[in-house]
Amino acid sequence: MRPWNDTAWKNSMRVRLAIANVFEEAVGPEGGIARARLESLYDRLRAIQREIAVKREAGALPFLDLPKQDVSAILACVEQNRTKFETFVVLGIGGSALGNIACHTALRHPYHNFLPADRRGGMRIEVADNIDPDRIAGLFDTLDLPRTVFNVITKSGSTAETASTFLAVKKLLQDHPRIGPGWREHVIVTTDPVAGDLRKFASREGLVSFDIPRGVGGRFSVLTPVGLLSAAMSGIDIEELLAGAADAAEYHASVPAEKCPAFAGAALHYLMYNHPRAPKRLAVMMPYSHALKDVTDWFRQLWAESLGKEKALDGTIVNVGPTPIKALGVTDQHSQVQLYIEGPNDKLFTFVETETFQNDLVLPFDNDLADLGAFNYFAGKTLGQLLHAEQKATTLALTRRHRPNLTISMREVRPYTVGQLFMLLEIQTVVAGALFGINPFDQPGVEAGKIATYALMDRPGYENEKNAIEQEISTGAEWVL
Ligand code: PA5
Repeated sequence: MRPWNDTAWKNSMRVRLAIANVFEEAVGPEGGIARARLESLYDRLRAIQREIAVKREAGALPFLDLPKQDVSAILACVEQNRTKFETFVVLGIGGSALGNIACHTALRHPYHNFLPADRRGGMRIEVADNIDPDRIAGLFDTLDLPRTVFNVITKSGSTAETASTFLAVKKLLQDHPRIGPGWREHVIVTTDPVAGDLRKFASREGLVSFDIPRGVGGRFSVLTPVGLLSAAMSGIDIEELLAGAADAAEYHASVPAEKCPAFAGAALHYLMYNHPRAPKRLAVMMPYSHALKDVTDWFRQLWAESLGKEKALDGTIVNVGPTPIKALGVTDQHSQVQLYIEGPNDKLFTFVETETFQNDLVLPFDNDLADLGAFNYFAGKTLGQLLHAEQKATTLALTRRHRPNLTISMREVRPYTVGQLFMLLEIQTVVAGALFGINPFDQPGVEAGKIATYALMDRPGYENEKNAIEQEISTGAEWVL
């Protein structure tokens, strides 16, 4: 029996949220809120939960039902390619890259790509998102092309960064003496099921392709083939990942809203953003787990693009949105925490902790260091213990200085808990969107940047935009030399 069919096991693996350190009794009136303010939102939260259920039933929130998808085509693709190729390169950006990176860092060996094939358990994974030419050329330098497969991921089918790198990759493959006309076997496309230039091209060339379900936007797509294919290729158990996500989706649909981490998390971020004495408009996420560091990066996009909006749903100009900041424990204790503790009280912190690690190192007693105070007090203790102690110390220091903080806690980092975390944070984002009164699923600001890029790079159809930009640039240039 799969462990995730065992109720006791599932309960022990449930991701929880600790909220005590956001209330006035813990962090004072500058830092915290009165409990009654959260309680006064309970009716609204329950109403949002009902609205989500109705929309889900009507098929308007397909991200919630992704855990039920059939992954047999993905697993078959892995089977067909696992011995043929050694490296899997994702070409994509934003929502078409960050989930892949998050899964890979969270759920594979920290030095996965350096391990020999028999210890890796899957292909090497690279994600070429940023188009900095030094970076892309550097990646190409490392690839053994006959043993490399590229996954071109773009929902729109035309994002400049992905389209341009694909163009470069296709030439590289076609020019390779051992590949040439066989380039098609080295390309897998993930895009909209019908629309867009990449879909057209994939159909015309007969390329292997996967669909990004309609209605699932880029930043909500980690649990579609966007994130699942690279995860499965690298050896991650995607069925367990989806089982964890299903658990979170069903928990948040069936348990009263006020008892659900995503609803409480959204409500507290909303209340802190509107704190009557010292608004907390910055949201710092700080995992004390190196494996979860890129989940923070994924969340940063989800929170920023979903909640940063000019207009409310009724069209009023609101220019709203908490600014997500990523930090990492313990690294950023020696970089950011001074500011967090003594700087402006304008942040809500979310720590993410794991109770156990895949490995732990017991520290030895060392005779050569016995006369010095700095070393042997660690003897018999573990690095995991030290990490936990430092997390407690930082939490305590922040709380004592009236800095509100939440802690997301999980038993261990594994596909089941990471799947829950993805789903929990996606639901939290949707609930926060409802509280802020904005549409969390569009990104007009990003689209504006994409259009300007097309114009500047002479994409046909964008000539008027190019003229307008050139006029703005020529009148607005001002340099300090
Ligand atoms: O969340 C989003 O919609 C965006 O961040 C997109 O993922 C990003 O702009 C890439 O778009 P596309 O997948 O169309 O290439």
